[in-house]
Amino acid sequence: MKRILVAIASLIATTASAQKFEGLATTPPMGWNSWNIFWTDINEEKIKAMADLMVSTGLKDAGYNYLVLDDGWMLKDRDSVTGDLVADPKKFPNGMKAVGDYIHAKGLKFGIYNCAGTLTCQGLAGTRGNEYQDARYYASIGVDYLKFDWCHSEGINAKDAYTTMSKAIQKAGRPMIFSLCEWGNNKPWEWGKPVGQLWRTTEDIYQVFDGYHDYGTWKANGVMTNADLNEKLRSYSGPGGWNDPDMLEVGNGMTMNEDRAHFSIWCIMAAPLMMGNDLRKISNETLSVFLNKDAIAVDQDPLAIQGFRYMQKDSMEVWVKPLTNDEWAVCFLNRKTSPQNFQFNWKTQTIEDTLVHKTLDMNSTVYNLYDIWQKKTTGTTAKPFSATVQAHDAYFFRLSKKAK
Ligand code: GLA
Repeated sequence: MKRILVAIASLIATTASAQKFEGLATTPPMGWNSWNIFWTDINEEKIKAMADLMVSTGLKDAGYNYLVLDDGWMLKDRDSVTGDLVADPKKFPNGMKAVGDYIHAKGLKFGIYNCAGTLTCQGLAGTRGNEYQDARYYASIGVDYLKFDWCHSEGINAKDAYTTMSKAIQKAGRPMIFSLCEWGNNKPWEWGKPVGQLWRTTEDIYQVFDGYHDYGTWKANGVMTNADLNEKLRSYSGPGGWNDPDMLEVGNGMTMNEDRAHFSIWCIMAAPLMMGNDLRKISNETLSVFLNKDAIAVDQDPLAIQGFRYMQKDSMEVWVKPLTNDEWAVCFLNRKTSPQNFQFNWKTQTIEDTLVHKTLDMNSTVYNLYDIWQKKTTGTTAKPFSATVQAHDAYFFRLSKKAK
């Protein structure tokens, strides 16, 4: 009897201390989010079109299963009777449950946005003080993913604020991925793991390859600026708790080379893959980036290790990621705005990943090289790589041991 009581007590204690639903993001989340392309200009018709296209283009089958509505879906005021958040009736005349139902009927998962502060970044109703009520509301409309931002949060403690919302989600009882969007201001990688499934490590991304975009009062980061910041944090990322260098800008105006390089590095970093473009206007080339199953396999690899930059010389970079079955992903990235000739003698390289104690020893082992963008095996590591890498472009390989 005593043993049963002890077991029950420990079960209660475990349940009470558990802060998030486990098992929701054993690999980095994938999907589409409205912000990068539409900002607050979203409505039911557009969102339904995105849901339709995620299915008809094959994106859903490739793994992009979360459709997330970012800022702009709600009004500034809450319902005066219930205190609930209210969907903007001009944009969503049938309410948010109808939107969620549509998304679910397509076999997709439904994501939504709010903010830890009193208002969202666009000045609409924030969650501060209404965490439990909002979590119940999200559960009632079928939300599967909550992105939680950090505007108008002056004076509050980030870890406490996100923990409160995490507990509220748990209490509401519907499993939801909880995405901590506090831009890395308070080092969420140090405390985010028990709280949510991913945490932004950087300022907002912008569709330039390197550097910044100046909005006047603040600066958004180019794609590689975010990559540099995120790269340093690899030891914190892993199953159920991912570093998030922000959503993809693929298809939003950069060159094809830049889009490919951006996607390659996100996959090497095991970053969440949230598309952020208008799927109604997607080109075949952009679609082929998103649908590249070998690139996605690097991102979603079950070992779940965030890769790293192994080498940097004359603006050429070599990034690597250990994969399952002793395979590796290797990326040659040209950060210059002009083409560069690049040689890499695989055989003289022994790449140590000291974090996970894995070694890519190409001196004693010959690997087959599969070129992920060209979609073909292009030789082995016995012969040095020598090629011109175009401006802001990347070669992306999967290395597997050659059968003896
Ligand atoms: C912040 C976030 C963005 C987006 C906007 C919405 O800037 O970092 O990703 O959600 O707010 O207003």
